Amino acid sequence: MGEELLVVRPEEQADGQWSGETRILKEDFPAGEDRGRYRRMDAVLASALAGIPHHLVRTADGLFRALAENRGKAVPADRILFAVALGRDGINGEYTRLLRLLRQNPCLLDGFTGALLVDGESELFTKSTATELVFTANCAGCAFIGHPLVEGTGSLLNFRVAAKNLGTDDLLAAYRDSAGKMVKNLLNFPGYPSKSPRLTVLHASSHRTSNTFALWRKVGGSLSGIACEEIGLRNGTLSDCAGCPYKMCLHYGEKESCFYGGVMVENVYPSVRAADAILMVCPNYNDALSANLTAFINRLTALYRKRQFYDKALFAIIVSGYSGCDIVARQLIAALNMNKSFYLPPRFAMLETANDPGSALRLPGIDGRCAEFAENIRRTLCG
Ligand SMILES: Cc1cc2nc3c(=O)[nH]c(=O)nc-3n(C[C@H](O)[C@H](O)[C@H](O)COP(=O)(O)O)c2cc1C
Repeated sequence: MGEELLVVRPEEQADGQWSGETRILKEDFPAGEDRGRYRRMDAVLASALAGIPHHLVRTADGLFRALAENRGKAVPADRILFAVALGRDGINGEYTRLLRLLRQNPCLLDGFTGALLVDGESELFTKSTATELVFTANCAGCAFIGHPLVEGTGSLLNFRVAAKNLGTDDLLAAYRDSAGKMVKNLLNFPGYPSKSPRLTVLHASSHRTSNTFALWRKVGGSLSGIACEEIGLRNGTLSDCAGCPYKMCLHYGEKESCFYGGVMVENVYPSVRAADAILMVCPNYNDALSANLTAFINRLTALYRKRQFYDKALFAIIVSGYSGCDIVARQLIAALNMNKSFYLPPRFAMLETANDPGSALRLPGIDGRCAEFAENIRRTLCG
């Protein structure tokens, strides 16, 4: 395999040749998954990979074997492209096995940087599958470039703007073009470390009672050598995005401003612009980011019009009282990594469950996990 790009294109095997505990018999699924579901994605993939040495695996078992082989190479592969065809129903049996493999082997993708192509025959499930896969692979050690996803919805209408920018109304051509650029970005990704790292920490929590904020303070205590700027976005300091017309947003964005002005323009934009990474302090509120943090992301759009964030990493501390940290993590992945182009370092989020004020700091093993997360930030920013 050498320095080749590793391409993982899960495809359900219909003839019972799987190893492991699950075997599907030919008579149950005569044609396996409908073969047609792969046709469009394979054509896009072939065009994006033309002239690029790559090693293609079609099953979770195949990935496991390829990774074992890769570890023995003098120059191991360190880039991975996932290509998932979801068909009409949004289900790909072998993809589910891939998730299981990654969740059972939390270091399997250490050292890899990834991107993904997700193709469907309906308008649904491509984005939700993509965030599920990125979250799972990230927990298994895989970093992701900013804008790691190219998705083909059934109609391809999600390529309207990209096609217009290319001066064509050929949506499939825009799909091919986006996939080609994404693969090049993956291969050319230069890595991350910075000489004098700066971290912007965004929160909307009470210093006194918040579990999430308490964990940030503990993590922050181990980050000497990294310049950390904390910005609080509580209680009406931030209005949500007004959804100005595109040209008006662009006009403000070019001056690194926004219709509403205020703390976002005066404090947050300059801090994010100067930072090498942002850390989001996220309590789980109704299985979502809190309103103030969502407003921050929406208002980032004006700055994003002027410059993208490929050179900035995203970290998060997420605390749920009961459950659902993965949902909040996936929301951050979709909004900031997939949409706003922040780099996603391996294991970008610390995920904890605690409800009563102060209880997060009393969780068994919490000191070690905070130290480990701080070390992850240091490794990413300082190399
Ligand atoms: C408005 C609100 C909504 C919440 N929704 C959820 C929820 O959907 N799921 C959950 O597990 N915990 C939920 N919680 C509990 C918090 O996630 C929990 O208190 C946790 O410790 C993080 O919040 P904190 O940093 O403010 O302490 C909610 C708390 C509030 C105040």
